[in-house]
Amino acid sequence: MDTPSTLPGGTWTLGDSTVTRFGYGAMQLAGPGVMGPPADGDGALAVLREAVDVGITHIDTSAAYGPRITNELIREALHPYPQSLVIATKVGAARDAQGDWPTARRPVDLREQVYENLDSLGVQTLDLVNMRMGDAQGPRPGSISEAFETLAELQREGLIRHLGVSNVTADQVAEARRIAPIVCVQNMYNLVHRHDDDLVDHLAADGIAYVPFFPLGGFTPLQSQALSRVARRLEATPMSIALAWLTRRSPNILLIPGTSSTAHLRENIAGAGLPLSDEDVTELDGIGR
Ligand SMILES: NC(=O)c1ccc[n+]([C@@H]2O[C@H](COP(=O)([O-])OP(=O)(O)OC[C@H]3O[C@@H](n4cnc5c(N)ncnc54)[C@H](OP(=O)(O)O)[C@@H]3O)[C@@H](O)[C@H]2O)c1
Repeated sequence: MDTPSTLPGGTWTLGDSTVTRFGYGAMQLAGPGVMGPPADGDGALAVLREAVDVGITHIDTSAAYGPRITNELIREALHPYPQSLVIATKVGAARDAQGDWPTARRPVDLREQVYENLDSLGVQTLDLVNMRMGDAQGPRPGSISEAFETLAELQREGLIRHLGVSNVTADQVAEARRIAPIVCVQNMYNLVHRHDDDLVDHLAADGIAYVPFFPLGGFTPLQSQALSRVARRLEATPMSIALAWLTRRSPNILLIPGTSSTAHLRENIAGAGLPLSDEDVTELDGIGR
């Protein structure tokens, strides 16, 4: 039986797994530009161990981070993995020598990336694989079918437990769902970038998780006068308020804020659980509209 989570937001069911809504995004554990090893390897391992120790059961990663470095840190810190832990990964991009993310979505590329994730994480089946589309500027229109059918095939082969999609349009979500069930959509979304508001609600109605990436703004921390105002009023940091707003936004939102610091991890957990009044939410809702 699952133990009730004491983390903010409680839990959500991803396919046949229950995960804490408060999760952890591991991308920035790799070196600068998500390339190479971190400056503080022991610190990175400590953050991962602390995340699991406080009860987090959802970690987001990819073999493209580092490349391989983030997955290898996860493996070193946490393998053998607790049964309750869901490690979500993603495929669809490679890394080049400049640290860019060229798309790599041919069936042969995707198969190779799935094997790369299995190998670097040290597992025989990946819990959850997101098919990442679009580019660094965001989702792009176009069919997802060839790429997603490849992942569905790898799922039938037993290499993947659950499927999701990432950096996608609403049309691509619908197209993927006609091919195979998905348990989540992972797109950029936060207090300031609200373009997916309708999609969040639509997925909630269908029992599908929405996993916002860059919940704190990613490489450019969220900034807004209204956010700072509410933070001052509640004697909290803007980051905490941004997470509290996401926790409250919809029960299908799973939080994966990234950090390389155990102090920030603890601060983010506390922040995500801050109660916001209706007045706070109205003021914050004005930011992204
Ligand atoms: N599907 C996709 O295409 C895609 C794209 C990007 C990211 N992702 C996923 O989304 C996850 C989250 O994104 P992200 O980590 O890039 O961005 P993020 O969670 O929006 O922000 C992380 C940044 O915020 C800082 N931070 C965290 N907590 C803080 C605090 N309490 N106070 C001050 N600064 C704080 C971190 O620095 P410190 O290390 O100093 O705390 C880090 O620089 C990633 O880990 C990755 O798994 C997916």
